[in-house]
This record gives sequence, structure tokens and C-alpha cells, in this order.
Amino acid sequence: MKKIKLFDPVIDENEIKKVVKTIKSKFWASGSGSGNVLKFENQFKKYVGSDDCIAVNSGTSALNLALSLIDIKNKEVILPSLSFVSTAHAILINGGIPVFVDVEPQTMCINPNEIQKSITAKTIAILPVHFGGFPCNLKDIQGIAKKHKLTIIEDAAHATGTTYSKKKIGSHGTAVCFSFHPVKNLAMPTGGLISINHKNHKQFRKTLLARRWCGITDRVDSEYDVKELGWNYYMNEFSATIGLTQLKKLNSTNKIRKKIAKIYDKELCLERKIPYSQNCSYHIYWIQVNNRTKFRKKMEEMNIETGIHYRPIHTFTMYKNTAKIPITEKISKKIVSIPIHPNLTENNIDKIIVNVNRFAN
Ligand SMILES: Cc1ncc(COP(=O)(O)O)c(C=O)c1O
Repeated sequence: MKKIKLFDPVIDENEIKKVVKTIKSKFWASGSGSGNVLKFENQFKKYVGSDDCIAVNSGTSALNLALSLIDIKNKEVILPSLSFVSTAHAILINGGIPVFVDVEPQTMCINPNEIQKSITAKTIAILPVHFGGFPCNLKDIQGIAKKHKLTIIEDAAHATGTTYSKKKIGSHGTAVCFSFHPVKNLAMPTGGLISINHKNHKQFRKTLLARRWCGITDRVDSEYDVKELGWNYYMNEFSATIGLTQLKKLNSTNKIRKKIAKIYDKELCLERKIPYSQNCSYHIYWIQVNNRTKFRKKMEEMNIETGIHYRPIHTFTMYKNTAKIPITEKISKKIVSIPIHPNLTENNIDKIIVNVNRFAN
């Protein structure tokens, strides 16, 4: 019996042809991000409808660099604890103070009322995470940000095809950070991107390009200057060429995810699961179960892979468990991710539904 995987990138002959072409070209990477990297940035910018896009080598790098655009040293950045750990690490790396607040029980996205309650004189930014691809309540978050003059940097690692868009859902923070890790809706070997929406976007691009490549700036042929620190965060050509192909099919693969989500929404007899929304990219389909260990073991016996997203960041040793966020703490013991990728067959979907309904309660 073949295992039903939790994540599975959608690839076809096009990706294979493009990778072979890139190998033969012998142009595999460049710190300046020319070639397919630049093409990918331009295509993604069109897709998102933002002012600019800067490709990097991971979602983590995107967050690290995006937060470097504002001076957050010794200032507070408000974020949910229910996320991958790099969301909070990016704040620490830039010298800021993470302030974890609770999520909405229905969506697992950061609760705007809790953001409001956590604002102090030291608050500088809000870092919402579009959990599972479900769009956060950006309307309210933007209202709070405007009132208190805070910057919004979004973690859209799960949300390629959801949130990003000025055009699509009328919102886009100063920077929106994407991940193109192989499990994500747009898959690459590794990759990420910062989408910018700001009147200073040209200056931001210049700054980000330098920080993306060791601080290198003002490059003409082999001559260049270095005015500040930078990292080796640039995207390689293989990732970019795969990304260009993946981007072409993103709308259709996300459509399949939504179709599966609609079926789960109707057929899964559960009190709590990710809500159905046309705006959601459904990177993750989460459900809540009472006995998670038992549930996951039973699913594994049926050859259905499941996952846990996430252990809340504030419970890790280095984050010292300071936050008081009861909903996150309660839910994080029950939450399970089930497969929703576009490679699922009708039989797979039926099998998942039957077994979730059998073992979840
Ligand atoms: C919410 C969230 N933020 C950030 C990241 C980091 O992305 P990457 O793995 O591409 O560095 C991830 C990756 O899993 C994520 O899920």
C-alpha cells in the first residue's frame, strides 16, 4: 500500500527540461541575481501586483532581510507564537524583542484584539503569519498599524496565492515574505522572496540587493564597494528556473487545493478545522483532535502521513515561555495537518476522509 504523503511537490517534464537546460548552461548562480532569478522576480511581481520583488534563498532569509529594512533594535515586534521558529528568530537576529500574542480560535491567525492590547511605547512592527494560507484579518491589523504608526511585515510562507496581493484582496504590508521550500505551494529546492509595497521601494531594492550579497554595491564589471554587512542570501539559477515553471501552474494547483478543501469542509465531521475560503491557498489543512498521538498513530497504520504545525515558539527553551496565550497553548496540543496537496487522487481523498472521521473523535 503506497503511503499518502503529507506534502508532495507537483512536477512534470517542464521542470526536468528546465533543470537540464540550466545544468548545460553552466550558469548556476550569481550574487547579482541576474538570469532566471531576475526573470522570476519580474514574473512574481506581476503575479502579486506589488512595487518590487527581491528573490532570496529561503523564507528565513526573506524574513531576516525584510526586518532589517526598519530599525527594530530594542523595539518590540508583535507576532503569533503558532509559526515556524524562523518568524521569531528574524526579530532576534535584527536586535528586536518578539512579543507573542494569541490567535483567533477559528483561523489560527493572529488576533487583532490581542495585538491592540499588547502595544506599548516600544512597539515598532506587527508580523502576522497567514497560517496554513488563510489570510489574516489585515483590514483590522492595518487599522491598528495606522493608528499607532507601526510597520506591517507579513510572513506569507504558507500563502503563495493568497494574501500577497494589493490587487487581489486589497492588502499588502510594507514587505511580504514568501517561502518556496519544496513543501510549499510554489516549490523550489530552496527559495524565498520579499515583495515590497512602499513609496521608497527603489531604495529598499538597492538596500536588499546589497544585503542579499555580502553588502556588495555599486558594481561595475569587477569593481564594487562594500558599505555595510551583508549575507550570502541570493537565489540560485536552478531554484529560479523551477520557480518560473511552478509559477505558471500556481493558479491551477491552488485551485485543486481549494477543491479538496471544499470536499473536506463538507465531509469531515469535526468541530474544529480550517474554515473554507476562496482566498486561502491551503498550504496546510489543519484539524483538531482530542487524542493527537493516538490519531496520528492510527493514520500512520493506514499509511496516511500527518504533521504537527507547530509547537508554539514561546515554548522552546530559548524563548523562555514568557507569553500568556491560552488559546495557542490549548490548540497546539490538538492541531494536526492532513494531506491536501494537488497530487492526491480521488481514492486518496476518500481514504483520508473515511479515516479522519473514524479516528478523530
Ligand atoms: C510560517 C513560516 N515562516 C517561515 C518559514 C521559513 O521558510 P524557509 O524554510 O523557506 O526558510 C516557514 C517554513 O517552513 C514557515 O512555515
